[in-house]
Amino acid sequence: MRGKVRKGIILAGGSGTRLHPLTLEVSKQLLPVYDKPMIYFPLSTLMSLGIREVLIIATPEDMPKFASLFGDGSQLGIKLSYASQPEPRGIPEAFLIGETFIGGENVALILGDNIFGGEEQIQAGFENFECGAMIFGYRVSNPSRYGVVEVDADGRALSIVEKPSTPKSDWAVTGFYVYGPKVVEMTRALKPSARGELEISDLNQTWLNEGKLELIRFDDRQVWFDVGTSDSMLNASNFIASRGAEGIRPGCIEETAYRMGFIDHGQLKCLIEKMPHNRYREQLVTVLAETDV
Ligand code: TTP
Repeated sequence: MRGKVRKGIILAGGSGTRLHPLTLEVSKQLLPVYDKPMIYFPLSTLMSLGIREVLIIATPEDMPKFASLFGDGSQLGIKLSYASQPEPRGIPEAFLIGETFIGGENVALILGDNIFGGEEQIQAGFENFECGAMIFGYRVSNPSRYGVVEVDADGRALSIVEKPSTPKSDWAVTGFYVYGPKVVEMTRALKPSARGELEISDLNQTWLNEGKLELIRFDDRQVWFDVGTSDSMLNASNFIASRGAEGIRPGCIEETAYRMGFIDHGQLKCLIEKMPHNRYREQLVTVLAETDV
């Protein structure tokens, strides 16, 4: 059966100014998080939700690098396409750039610098998506840095405000969102904020005003990194390394493709044979051996 959300966008542009000078010559989403380029993690998250058609949006300078890294995605059993965003004019611009890709269907959006440790809780919400919009909240100690969702006693969203100076809750909105096809039209009606960007919080507030926004709140077992600073990069890298020591490999796109049934045993073997003899390859050899047919 075809899923209710077949398409996903990874927004991987931006300026990465908080990471200068790291990002002067290299896209933030190509920087390493422990043993993989950052973008492997959001791509793997989309794939683990069964999404096989993905549009990657990057700056015009970096777009060819992503295309060279992943190609058309057929080696992973998915279909990848690419588009560029000339200026970082805000997260919702993804839906205008991706209008043809979306093609009147539901769509998931994930930010290229968001790393989710484990997909179970996203999966649980995502599977119940019918229509409207779905956002995911994560409790943080510094809500003023994020879009903040005010929540009523029953856990429903009451308001969403971008980077409030006096936050009404400690629930940050994470960089994974699911929308119905109307998202394109709703984005078109948005006005840029004082900082000159289309704001994702304004888009979510519009869905909320229409009574069509569902909030899923993560519990303490969920791990989420918004990797915008060198400290968060270090924390995320340490987390991925510690998961690796437990034999869990978040962001390993080849393993995800295989476990999701996008590629078979023989195809995974071919991918491994093209890899140099290193730890990444060894881990995939283990996956292959564990599931030998
Ligand atoms: P941010 O972290 O808000 O912005 P940034 O990556 O440019 O970094 P900095 O604030 O340090 O300058 O962006 C979140 C994610 O969304 C990140 O993966 C980049 C992406 N993004 C775009 O691709 N286009 C945009 O217009 C915006 C606002 C963000």
